[in-house]
Amino acid sequence: MKKVVILISGRGSNMEAIVRAQIPGAQIAAVISNRPDAAGLGFAAAHGIAAQCVDHKDYPSREAFDAALAATIDAHEPDLVVLAGFMRVLTDGFVSHYAGRLLNIHPSLLPSFPGLHTHRRALEAGVRVHGTTVHFVTPTLDCGPIVIQAVVPVLPGDDEAALAARVLEQEHRIYPQAVRWFVEGRLSLGADGRVQVRSETASPAGWTVPPVEA
Ligand code: GRF
Repeated sequence: MKKVVILISGRGSNMEAIVRAQIPGAQIAAVISNRPDAAGLGFAAAHGIAAQCVDHKDYPSREAFDAALAATIDAHEPDLVVLAGFMRVLTDGFVSHYAGRLLNIHPSLLPSFPGLHTHRRALEAGVRVHGTTVHFVTPTLDCGPIVIQAVVPVLPGDDEAALAARVLEQEHRIYPQAVRWFVEGRLSLGADGRVQVRSETASPAGWTVPPVEA
């Protein structure tokens, strides 16, 4: 059984999608928030999952917060740590500690629109397609090796909320997929820094490039 710890800051709908997916071989060991009022904590507790808070306001520095967060995470001995709407920039030390076992979902087709307000910026840029990306986390924000992406159209008349809802629907599909691949041991990082996904039917040596989800 692979242990998964999920970090949230608010609503937690991606966390919920991962929990509801009931991924074989995955045990959701804990859901941890940096905000005591994160709505997702209630869902986790109601589903018998350890729901904890490490409030960033209780710590004098980013380093002190990250150390406390890592101690709380590591008590669960996770194989995988999943950032699901976790709205804190993490220190390089924290990211290095979880190298190769830290995933994030970002609401754009990276490398386009790293950072905040991605849907607004996509609309302002006039792009015809937008989407979401699951990637391994590296010290540079929103920049790590891409695991899977999903594309959505930008439709005439879209506002930020409509576009965000279309993207979120895809997030709920691809994040459980990425976690499933990780848990099944099907992800590997090539020498070129790209993620490869071993197909279910391929021989152990048979690695394929992850599909672009339409
Ligand atoms: C998602 O759009 C995710 O891509 C971004 O923050 C949002 C979190 O939503 N990082 P939720 O808390 O999972 O509902």
